[in-house]
Amino acid sequence: MTSSILTLNGLSRNHIERIFTLARQLKKSPLKPDFAGQFAALLFFEPSTRTRLSFEAACHRAGIGPMVFQAGQGTSMEKGETLEDSVANVVAMNPSILVVRAGDELKMESLGSKLSIPVINAGWGKKGHPTQALLDLLTISERRPLDGVKVVFLGDLLYSRVAASHLEVWPQFNGEVRFCGPKELVPPHQPGEPVVQTFSNVDEAIEWADVIVALRYQTERHGVNSADPKKSAAALADIRANYALTAERLKKIPSSTLILHPGPVNHGVEIDSEVYFDSRSVILDQVSHGVWLREALLRLLLKGDLT
Ligand code: NCD
Repeated sequence: MTSSILTLNGLSRNHIERIFTLARQLKKSPLKPDFAGQFAALLFFEPSTRTRLSFEAACHRAGIGPMVFQAGQGTSMEKGETLEDSVANVVAMNPSILVVRAGDELKMESLGSKLSIPVINAGWGKKGHPTQALLDLLTISERRPLDGVKVVFLGDLLYSRVAASHLEVWPQFNGEVRFCGPKELVPPHQPGEPVVQTFSNVDEAIEWADVIVALRYQTERHGVNSADPKKSAAALADIRANYALTAERLKKIPSSTLILHPGPVNHGVEIDSEVYFDSRSVILDQVSHGVWLREALLRLLLKGDLT
């Protein structure tokens, strides 16, 4: 039974196709708002722009009241209330669904199993970001069939929950995910998990891939701001020199290749504005698809149609 979306491991291809079919319908013509009197608690314990606002937009379109909690902005967490207490208090208000973004420390799986309402992972530490991966696939599917797609992630892979969720979902479509980034920013192999092939040369990666996903250097997770600014500068320089989608490298990218980025983008670091605005880039399409995908997911979960 699928009543929560914490990872993509338990989601069958059939479930995914159902979400995509409804999302495509919603893109063509909006459905009437439904779910009178119900509301979704959107709990964000880490910063967010696209994910939070697209869940809010999706709620409005579906007729579900969004109740947004953005930690650290006038909430009682400023007075020392814990994350667990904050969640428990919001749950006590009886939302119909929980959408949660938090660090690895949150035990989202026990939250999902304890509660009788669906929980959606909206970005969980470095573990995963299932709705981002789903909206990425929906975006790609508008341009080409998903079967057998070759996807390469570039740059700072170490904490990329987006890449983690892609690794979970692509086997359903016989696709392959590979990495290309500085050695120290490639996640170590986890026992029991398939080995991810890596490229050391970005030009080889670009030649191999049907889809290229550029990633932001996650300064806040490396803790380098305060600890070691020189390390941060060196990592950024390495990404820029060896793994960035520059205007120069764009010339080598085939016309059929798609360029994605989950955002936020550092223009002139991992991607140049020429690439961001190129016709091969679907970066803003990803954002649009995020609303339809999340609306479809909310509607299906609240109607119990994803079991
Ligand atoms: C990403 C995230 O938070 O995982 N962005 C997103 O949700 N669209 C990636 C990032 O923070 O770089």
